[in-house]
Amino acid sequence: MNKIEVIEVFLGKEKVGRIALNEQGICAFEYDTEFLKTGFSLSPYHLPLHAGVFISTWTPFRGNFGVFDDSLPDGWGNLILDRYLLGKGIKSDKLSVLQRLALVGTTGRGALEYFPDKSVSIKNSYFDLEQLAVEAEKILTSEYSGEGLDTLYQYGGSSGGARPKIFVTFENRQWLVKFKATTDPQNIGKTEYEYSLLARECGIEMPETRLFENKYFGVERFDRTDAGKIHTVSVAGLLHADYRIPSLDYSVLLKVCLNLTKNMEEVYSLFRLMVFNVAIGNRDDHAKNFSFQYRNGEWKLSPAYDLLPSTGFNGYHTTTINGQGIPVMKDILQVANETGLLEKRAKEIISQVVDACRTKNLLCDIG
Ligand SMILES: Nc1ncnc2c1ncn2[C@@H]1O[C@H](COP(=O)(O)OP(=O)(O)O)[C@@H](O)[C@H]1O
Ligand SMILES: [Mg+2]
Repeated sequence: MNKIEVIEVFLGKEKVGRIALNEQGICAFEYDTEFLKTGFSLSPYHLPLHAGVFISTWTPFRGNFGVFDDSLPDGWGNLILDRYLLGKGIKSDKLSVLQRLALVGTTGRGALEYFPDKSVSIKNSYFDLEQLAVEAEKILTSEYSGEGLDTLYQYGGSSGGARPKIFVTFENRQWLVKFKATTDPQNIGKTEYEYSLLARECGIEMPETRLFENKYFGVERFDRTDAGKIHTVSVAGLLHADYRIPSLDYSVLLKVCLNLTKNMEEVYSLFRLMVFNVAIGNRDDHAKNFSFQYRNGEWKLSPAYDLLPSTGFNGYHTTTINGQGIPVMKDILQVANETGLLEKRAKEIISQVVDACRTKNLLCDIG
């Protein structure tokens, strides 16, 4: 792949800025002059909206800024990217961050687009889920890199998360469809679907979800609307937090939520999500499983995603609750208290969530 010196970053038709690498291979970013006048900060803690060159750090994103690292594939996406490139004689470990961003081009999650655009786009909207699931399984369990690989790369090469997944258009709407990882039980799709319904019942904002072919979990994309793409950044990206290890506590997360959104209702929503994660035993609550979106001039918590019971980090919540990997009720209340939530309202939220989970027989021990 050709060397790339500069990546230009766009939001729709608007040029946002440009990225280059310094001699140490670390990203330098500068906002475009026009965007400085009319735009907004892409990532308030690491890229505030002002003139000048920002230089990132090597960790945790190998020299990248968190907000741009969010556009890159991880887990599954990287696996198929590696195989796809290998088929073309390119070793992916030799790629620079700028080349990786070019491969995402205009196909990434969120709204940011990168030029030159070297992405591979899908030519038609036909998809055979059974077939793709079989191909995904083969890719996960062997060195396989047959024809299905190219198709999976085109459908989901810039997706995030560890499980195989694809982006598809169905009934004129954009969906994310997930397949099982090798360690998942056969009925994982159905389980994730049931938890998405439970989350909604608990008052958590979820996009529309459905089971494709009665088997595959599908969720409508919240970073796409008829009016255009929505700028979305994960908490890992916003805070430069390492999502592979426990790097956060919910009390920090809730304070970030208030600081960013300036809206206590958003903090209550995130608290509700925390209670839900504890109640169902979703301990895989790492910094990339929470996102914020910039819409109509304001930051808001994104709809929830990836809600499943999970053992997390060695059996502990990856985002701790009052410093505890396995919290009890006192810890939940302490987080509420520390974040300035009204005790009465926090307790109401806890009862609503716990009662709904108990009714469905999906409540974990919550101390
Ligand atoms: N409904 C959605 N709309 C847009 N992006 C989503 C949606 N759900 C998940 N994502 C993005 O896709 C990534 C992977 O999805 P996730 O459900 O976390 O998969 P995994 O189980 O592989 O971790 C998330 O980190 C998030 O960036
Ligand atoms: Mg995830």
